[in-house]
Amino acid sequence: MDEHILIKKWIELIPVIIENINNESGDSRQLILDGLDFIRFYADKFHHAKEEDILFEYTDKNSDIIKTILQDHESARSHVRATSEALKRGNRNLIAEHLNAYKELLKEHIKKEDEILYPWIDRDLSTTQVGELFAKFNEAEVKIDKETIEKCKSFIKELKQRIENLKIKKEEVK
Ligand SMILES: [Fe+2]
Ligand SMILES: [Fe+2]
Repeated sequence: MDEHILIKKWIELIPVIIENINNESGDSRQLILDGLDFIRFYADKFHHAKEEDILFEYTDKNSDIIKTILQDHESARSHVRATSEALKRGNRNLIAEHLNAYKELLKEHIKKEDEILYPWIDRDLSTTQVGELFAKFNEAEVKIDKETIEKCKSFIKELKQRIENLKIKKEEVK
């Protein structure tokens, strides 16, 4: 849930990022590229992998909720690929469409996990299993590249300011 907080800060700012996409500006392109790196590394390689490789091992993988959650992860990955493609082609509408779809998907996804999935898993875990989970999460956290995690955190910290700078530049062009 703590990791969701950082991911939510990013998705909350997607609408204003979309508003300020400017094909002529290298800065807006770089901001989206960095956002995609944040998703690939923090939301996917780190967070979703912890869920898929560790947490869901404690659940019934054939249950509808787990199937839905895994499907969401796949859809999120395909929106990231599509955004990246659209960015290469400089297609503003497609960038906006896929970033927006990603935002909507993840917003609902995090809500499902926080309100339904995690409490449901938590109820069925024994104290020993909770201990095991903590140990496995710690292990995953030790293995992951700390420098990139810090980069992801700074990306979120600086995001509002970077968007403000984009807005100022857009005004100057007008
Ligand atoms: Fe998830
Ligand atoms: Fe999650």
